[in-house]
Amino acid sequence: MNGAGPKGVLRGLGLMSGTSADGVDAARLELGADGHCRFRGWVDTPYPPDLRAAVLAANDALTVEAAARLDRRLGQFYGVVARDAMHGLGPVDFIAIHGQTIRHQPAGSEGFTLQIGSAADAVAATGLTVVNDFRRADVAAGGQGAPLVPPFHQHIFAAPGPRLILNLGGMANLTWLPGSHDPRPILAFDTGPGNVLLDAVADLHSGGRLHCDQGGRMALAGVANQALLAEWLDWPYFLSPPPKSTGREAFGLPLAAKLLGEWEGRVEDLMATLLALTAQSIARAVRRWTPESPEMLVFGGGAENPALLAALQRALPAIRIVHGAQATGIPSQALEALAFAWLGAQCLLGRPGNLPAVTGAARMVVLGGIHPGGNWPLLMKKMIRYKNK
Ligand SMILES: Nc1ncnc2c1ncn2[C@@H]1O[C@H](COP(=O)(O)OP(=O)(O)O)[C@@H](O)[C@H]1O
Ligand SMILES: [Mg+2]
Repeated sequence: MNGAGPKGVLRGLGLMSGTSADGVDAARLELGADGHCRFRGWVDTPYPPDLRAAVLAANDALTVEAAARLDRRLGQFYGVVARDAMHGLGPVDFIAIHGQTIRHQPAGSEGFTLQIGSAADAVAATGLTVVNDFRRADVAAGGQGAPLVPPFHQHIFAAPGPRLILNLGGMANLTWLPGSHDPRPILAFDTGPGNVLLDAVADLHSGGRLHCDQGGRMALAGVANQALLAEWLDWPYFLSPPPKSTGREAFGLPLAAKLLGEWEGRVEDLMATLLALTAQSIARAVRRWTPESPEMLVFGGGAENPALLAALQRALPAIRIVHGAQATGIPSQALEALAFAWLGAQCLLGRPGNLPAVTGAARMVVLGGIHPGGNWPLLMKKMIRYKNK
């Protein structure tokens, strides 16, 4: 599994498990010595129901024992996912694991963000070197530890003109990329909820039968409550300027349960209102904070919800809303996993991975913790050859 592979090409497997808690996206990346990235396939593995339940339960108060147990279970699962992914997609030199965020409270001098999933277990299952824990170094440098994907967006999507990249995961992350001769810095931040409230209401309403509103069918059958929508769009998170990032603490099951409990009327109307909330909070953030852009490439699982894309297009009539996968060939849910494979390579090469203007960090820092596997000596030789190319 861990032969040296082609000269001058680094092969990484990125594993992303986002706030949706739907499972693990694994994507294989080949990085040439000239920096050129090649997408080499993707697999999506849902969490087994009991593991998903444990991940969702971790949003509540958690004992140290329960957190430690979940850390190992996730690490073991990542190991199995990585082994299966390499079987299907081909061998790699290293595995980059984002981990599962169980807390994200980066504000202030005592702020923190916590991603779990024991790397040692993934190393044990694969024999390969693992890079994980990408966010801590940025937090230690005074940043939010998020968003980390924008430099990868810049690396693969920079174009002559400006562009917006939107990732619709549990949360919605937005990146504005300047055009090639534009000296303005990249701007990126979380606009607020992506799919998380839609998923939670679908789940609660169906008694756990549905994990999301497939194709936006429920939302399409409802009518948004404009008065409540206007009220919700004034929630403090939407009004605060970037840099900012958010998580399930602000937009999660408790909020969804409260909104559903207070809702008088059809659940389809609540779904339509929440879908409009995602679309319009993004549109407002674009109008308030991002410079002009003719188009927006949309990725993340939410790009597979046509009702959400249509609502975005209605909310931003002057911007061409583009299904990112159709335009670039990178599947909606593979982009973030690829980004972490790329960040893993930056770590192994000793290159900084954060953008201080984006995260609020005081300086650029190398991101990630390295957990050497049996291939470590071979990998170090390969890195030296790669760096000297
Ligand atoms: N066909 C679909 N219809 C509606 N929503 C979808 C569909 N496919 C994926 N999704 C949404 O995408 C989410 C997963 O997106 P993902 O990019 O993996 O987010 P995260 O990174 O937070 O895990 C699901 O929870 C669901 O809300
Ligand atoms: Mg996911």
